[in-house]
Amino acid sequence: MRTPVENPIILAIESSCDETAVALLQAPGTVLGQALASQVGIHERFGGVVPEVASRAHLEQLDPLLTQALGKAGRTLADVDAVAVTSGPGLLGAVLVGLSYAKALAWGLGVPLIGVHHLEAHVAAALLHRPDVSYPFLALVVSGGHTSLYRVDAGLVFTELGRTIDDAAGEALDKGAKMMGLPYPGGPHIERLARDGRATAVDFPRAWLGRSLDFSFSGLKTALRVHLEKTGATPDNLEDNLPDIAASYQEAVVDVLATKALWAAEREGLQTLVVAGGVAANGRLGAVLAARGAREGVDVVVPPPALCTDNAVMVAVAGARMLAAGRTASLTLDADARAPITTATP
Ligand code: KG4
Ligand code: ZN
Repeated sequence: MRTPVENPIILAIESSCDETAVALLQAPGTVLGQALASQVGIHERFGGVVPEVASRAHLEQLDPLLTQALGKAGRTLADVDAVAVTSGPGLLGAVLVGLSYAKALAWGLGVPLIGVHHLEAHVAAALLHRPDVSYPFLALVVSGGHTSLYRVDAGLVFTELGRTIDDAAGEALDKGAKMMGLPYPGGPHIERLARDGRATAVDFPRAWLGRSLDFSFSGLKTALRVHLEKTGATPDNLEDNLPDIAASYQEAVVDVLATKALWAAEREGLQTLVVAGGVAANGRLGAVLAARGAREGVDVVVPPPALCTDNAVMVAVAGARMLAAGRTASLTLDADARAPITTATP
């Protein structure tokens, strides 16, 4: 093993779902180079991610992406001080591809391996964007697979305050988009269409679940199906109504996310809200949270869109913090498709 250096260079790999990404970061927060390959075009044909197809695509992409990232950074593998990789949660086969690749690199280079939790990485992305954020803060993590609220204490230690009891927000957007005949992943398509629509056009339901901090989006999906059936929507006549439906559907998701996040801030007495994960790239969610947050004295931190959706920079940022805290892994580290987030030891 090399002796620790002051501002180590972290090589990070992300392959837990449908983006293959490699990044080089100088700790704590200087991005030296990154490369990313989206599999969206591949999965579009199937209307969603097919795990086996994703794993193969990751395997094919990693080598060229590593070369690209190093090239952009003007560095070689000899400059790398540690290798960070997403070790879960995610699609098991996809995570395994990146993890095996990272282990081989760490072993070959004689540098530490760091196993990063995918959701912790999403939250860490916000800290690159706003390093001044102080603990404890509230995190709303909204992605294709997760929708949760956490209280985050120093050292990225999470306490879950609420979670979805059925679909994740991204999943609700993607499935809703599919019903509207939009391509996968639907979130960005809904956002684009919604810009020309009226958010009050269709009164879609909001599942408040009392004043619980848990979420539920399955009823909303059903309401969309019923609305489409009731209005006799066909691909021919749907097009004109689509912006209104998209805007109203998006608004129902955004309203619930924003309202519950601000309930949580009030209940926990927290003044900072970090929004992370792919759905955080949604401009309407950011705007609604910023406006309501300003009224209630809550500082809302949303990373730029490219740092919200899956990328390797976020893995590097989390990895740099874990390395500084001595949280490295052994080469026997296993992929964990359902890895729990780092919580305080009782
Ligand atoms: O975090 P992410 O890239 O991958 C997972 O870890 O799941 O999140 C992907 C999700 C998808 O559901 C996608 O539709 C959604 O994020 N998403 C968006 C936007 N960009 C990505 N949803 C709404 N508006 C967007 N602009
Ligand atoms: Zn993600």
